[in-house]
Amino acid sequence: MRVDILTLFPEVFESPLSSSIIKRARDNGLIEIALTDIRDFSTDNYRKVDDKPYGGGPGMVMMPGPVFDCFEHVQKLSPEKGRVFLLTPQGQKFDQAKARQLSAEKRLIFIDGKYEGFDERIRTGLGAEQISIGDYVLSGGEFAAMVIIDAVVRLLEGALGDEDSAKDDSFSEGLLEYPQYTRPEIYRGMKVPDILLSGDHAKIAEWRRQQSLERTKKWRPDLLNNNNKKASAK
Ligand code: ADE
Repeated sequence: MRVDILTLFPEVFESPLSSSIIKRARDNGLIEIALTDIRDFSTDNYRKVDDKPYGGGPGMVMMPGPVFDCFEHVQKLSPEKGRVFLLTPQGQKFDQAKARQLSAEKRLIFIDGKYEGFDERIRTGLGAEQISIGDYVLSGGEFAAMVIIDAVVRLLEGALGDEDSAKDDSFSEGLLEYPQYTRPEIYRGMKVPDILLSGDHAKIAEWRRQQSLERTKKWRPDLLNNNNKKASAK
């Protein structure tokens, strides 16, 4: 998979994209990530990329010129056309199902803007999809893009050391993850549940499933409702 990020702040990505699972996925050639600075495509002496909104109002709006020029440059960097996303709180909400869907793509192109927004012609002219990581406002799309990339990369085959670890993640089956324990067996008087020490794999699997259900019911009942809706829509 190839990921292109068009941003005003490429430096923000350096450390997160060079650490942990993403680093390993890049080193192993599972994913290629390229950053391009939108400001390099400004035609202004001050590298200006935004301007006041027509009709008045607060804030600044990303100008179409630098974004279009940057996008056209980036698109030529690889023959794959790719899916293009604008990071914005107005977008479709990102979730695990979307992460799975995106992990099957050959190329993703993310355009990060400032929150005040993009000139509308960027969305319509580039045929970009809009995507949001939640109902709150960030000052730019950078962190949102990183969240999405992280969630997608860990689903690429071979990205995690143990292939099973993504399968059991929270949400992977529409439920929260079951509780996990590691050594020691007793810590400050708190004991690991006996069942996990029993060696009975069928019983452990059953217990875990039950725990997942109970936790989801208690902490995220909305997920169960979503599952029911999905099931009845089939
Ligand atoms: N840019 C600003 N807020 C955002 C959000 N919630 N999701 C994606 N991009 C954003």
